[in-house]
Amino acid sequence: MDIFSPTGPLVTRIKGQQPQLQPSPEASQSFYRNLEDALDARRTSHTLYSIVQNSWQVNDAVADFSSNDILSLGSSGLLRAEYLNELAQNPASNPGAGGSRLIDGNYTYLEETEQVIASFHGAETALLLASGYEANIAIWTAIPRPGDVILYDALVHASTHDGMDQSLAVEREEFGHNNIVDFRRALLAILESKPLVKQGKRSIIIAVESVYSMDGDVCPLQELVDIAKDVCPKGNAQFVVDEAHSTGVLGPNGAGLVCALGLENEIAVVMHTCGKALSSRGAAILGNKTIKAMLINFAKSIIFTTAPPFAHVALMRAGYKLLGSEQGQEARDQVRSRLEFFLETITSHPLWEEATAKGLLAIPILKDWEEKPLATSHIVTIWTRQHCTYWLYFHLLFAGFCVFPVEHPVVAKNQSRLKVTFHAGNTETQVEGLVVAIYEWVQEMLDSQCSGIQGKGKNKATRAAGEVYAWMAGEKLTGFGMPAV
Ligand SMILES: Cc1ncc(COP(=O)(O)O)c(C=O)c1O
Repeated sequence: MDIFSPTGPLVTRIKGQQPQLQPSPEASQSFYRNLEDALDARRTSHTLYSIVQNSWQVNDAVADFSSNDILSLGSSGLLRAEYLNELAQNPASNPGAGGSRLIDGNYTYLEETEQVIASFHGAETALLLASGYEANIAIWTAIPRPGDVILYDALVHASTHDGMDQSLAVEREEFGHNNIVDFRRALLAILESKPLVKQGKRSIIIAVESVYSMDGDVCPLQELVDIAKDVCPKGNAQFVVDEAHSTGVLGPNGAGLVCALGLENEIAVVMHTCGKALSSRGAAILGNKTIKAMLINFAKSIIFTTAPPFAHVALMRAGYKLLGSEQGQEARDQVRSRLEFFLETITSHPLWEEATAKGLLAIPILKDWEEKPLATSHIVTIWTRQHCTYWLYFHLLFAGFCVFPVEHPVVAKNQSRLKVTFHAGNTETQVEGLVVAIYEWVQEMLDSQCSGIQGKGKNKATRAAGEVYAWMAGEKLTGFGMPAV
């Protein structure tokens, strides 16, 4: 494949990082110049985002181990067929919404769909929104009250942070990611410093996610709930669980982690999104009638925006129909079997011990995998030596496997890793090929002068990366793990 196609994703992404040294006519005006300066700061640190179609989208020879179409409902055509079915069953529906939910944007189909989704998850009510981002803003602006304290896992999503920034609860505490000991410590510290919380007159609202997408690990939700009950027996420690990455994947019919653990009556607010395994977009906030009333009264991201239109609600409903179908279950089983096959194959390879001992491969979720089926999802992160993350990424891309390189600022500095997402549509041959390609690279690292151990050959990249860097050098570009000369 032509990885260096001038309009391809790799070239577009890398070239985009070059500062605009020659200002365009617009950029010579101070308004645009100031904007370009802000972009240049990103370019200089090689952190400029650009919008491109990903490698697996533009090249049939590249396998998708990156997208959020986890159950392959989108790529298989299943969602499209079910959506058309939904439209055909409602021939008279106006595709639009008609206004804000609180004025002219409420309609029977939307209310029915909310009931369907609420019962799917065993919740009293559901409220549909256009996206998970909007849903998190709505939750955090409406639910915590003045004097409440928010306690959040260190790795919660940016949308939760944006929501918390707008919250009426000014006190905010963080606890170590998935760390139950630190969670207890933080709860006790809040009780110690906030007499009204200790008296049960104000609440602690706890933000967690069921699956953390940049790590692929699962929240120890049952343990956290037990600790919260133990430390706050007055019932004023309540959870908000963001299920974005477990919707459709974990639990009965893919109803999520809360349902998998039977915690439907213990969790105040649950947020599901349709942008990942459901292959479309949108979100549902689940809770009791009080929660729903609070959202529609206090969340500006619901009040001052148009309601989800029929065309969108029908897409979400079609996705939910598939989740509960035989095909949905088959897809979930397929994802699980691909993940297990990958973990078994990579860990039983003759080079596994050496690769891990030499810091060339690490898979953090492995520690929980076999004993706790609920501790893994469909995401695996692969870590290598920090300066080599892109080298492995380029090697896999050249071999026809598209994974996602996770770098700063998406994660903290020196925390880069490759994120591999398994899909129902990934074949066993693809998974096997991915493992073979990973070990080709490991072997290259072991054999060559690229290892970087004790300075030996530290500046020499592996073959695929070397090709990318040779092209970059010709273009006078830097970054992406290119060794300093
Ligand atoms: C944990 C989490 N919550 C919320 C969102 C936002 O969801 P949406 O893409 O539907 O806006 C995302 C999206 O990446 C997410 O990962």
